[in-house]
Amino acid sequence: MKKILFVTSEAHPLIKTGGLADVSGSLPKALAELSQDVRLIMPNYQTLNLYGEIHTLFSLRVDNRQINILETRLPDSNIPVWLVDCPEFYNYPGNPYTDESGNPWPNNAERFALFCRIAVICAMDKIGQNWRPDIVHCNDWQSGLVPALLSLEKDRPATVFTVHNLAYQGLFSASRMVTLNIPGQLWNPEGLEFHNMLSFIKGGLAFADCITTVSPTYAQEIQTPAFGYGLEGLLRHRKDALVGIINGIDIQQWNPEIDGTITQRYSADSIHNKVHNKTELQRRVGLPVNENIPMFGLISRLVEQKGIDMVLNCLPEMLAMPMQLVLLGSGDKAVEQRLQALAQAYPDKIAVTLGYNESLAHLIEAGADMFLMPSRFEPCGLNQMYSQRYGTIPIVRKTGGLADTVVDTSMETLANGTASGIVFNDANSGTLLEAIKRALLLYYSPEHWRNMQINAMSKDFSWRRSAQEYLQLYEKLRH
Ligand code: ADP
Ligand code: GLC
Repeated sequence: MKKILFVTSEAHPLIKTGGLADVSGSLPKALAELSQDVRLIMPNYQTLNLYGEIHTLFSLRVDNRQINILETRLPDSNIPVWLVDCPEFYNYPGNPYTDESGNPWPNNAERFALFCRIAVICAMDKIGQNWRPDIVHCNDWQSGLVPALLSLEKDRPATVFTVHNLAYQGLFSASRMVTLNIPGQLWNPEGLEFHNMLSFIKGGLAFADCITTVSPTYAQEIQTPAFGYGLEGLLRHRKDALVGIINGIDIQQWNPEIDGTITQRYSADSIHNKVHNKTELQRRVGLPVNENIPMFGLISRLVEQKGIDMVLNCLPEMLAMPMQLVLLGSGDKAVEQRLQALAQAYPDKIAVTLGYNESLAHLIEAGADMFLMPSRFEPCGLNQMYSQRYGTIPIVRKTGGLADTVVDTSMETLANGTASGIVFNDANSGTLLEAIKRALLLYYSPEHWRNMQINAMSKDFSWRRSAQEYLQLYEKLRH
């Protein structure tokens, strides 16, 4: 049995901005089911959805600040969650990383450097728990300093750093090295320095014993200039320590047979019931109720990565066809405004809900016929897996985890029973539009469509196999 300290900046259902939270809320459970001793550590944000008992585990002073480490549990599990409590840094409203206008909190470097330092103190068993992890598993730039700082310790745990998204790197001015009190020996081009900036993510990429990313294809992609953001050289250099492990999904939360947030539950055997979710969704978002009109769903952070602009460019042609588009998202303010204007101009065809809404996300997965995910890059992506589980055919670009989890529909894949979506190659609206037209042709061919839905619904996206892969990796890392 391994002791694993899982260091993360978000975990569902405590707090979520994207897929990292889904992974942090479900991978530790899958590891616990494999009899591993897992604990989470994350900041004690003001907006956490806390459930059940919470108590103070330990108090300490760092940089003249009083820090409390609180303990609660990951809901529906026995997994301890340690919350780093420092009101000056984490007691902010809303999003953990940005203010209401989407600008990063100005003291993010201080906030996450402190978080990393406390995680290191816990990892070195200095909080009176008599619990020293074998593995410290860090995630994304917010925990990037942990492997760097631990590399300076004698008799330390092994470190794993998982890249969920290389586009976010935690870059700050070089002068922060001093104000954050980071040991000078970590400052060099092989260390935390990145073009004379302080890079948190390099703390993970350069110092972790092992680097993972969330799909095999993305593991290859980030070693190339197109996806590497200047870090491809370092990643190629470390390629023997780099592995891609595809994310699983929480098959309890995302299960159309037991999903309590949808209108009508269904399985592959009762897929005819799916349509009741479509009509309820139409009612809920104010679109004309019509069982037969093809409906596209889209749920996303509205950022460049997700290719929403390509969807917008396809709209003039799409609007000429019978179709509906239900979109849920938040992010870039200019994109939000454009979407709202479109929804107002075409109220019979486009419904836009801005903001974060979990139950609507479930209903869209259940109600839509097709799900649009034309990402420019996608380390793993979860919605294409949720969609397949709900018999909602994903239309995805062939990149990262999308390439690894969706099988394009052709005569061959229809014949061998693997066709589960529409996959297109180039990141431009022309190829997306072709993919949409291809999907519509199949939609109007009910037998093919039904086969695709059944193939998609019978795929195994559970965590079991991926959690095993993490475990094998942990076992190789002895310290
Ligand atoms: P990313 O982490 O890059 O945003 P993923 O596909 O890995 O992409 O995960 C996104 C997660 O966030 C999914 O669980 C998705 O349903 C959820 N999500 C994104 N935007 C919203 C929203 N506006 N409301 C509810 N859920 C959302
Ligand atoms: C990131 C990626 C997404 C991935 C998620 C969880 O947010 O953008 O592709 O699914 O992390 O690993």
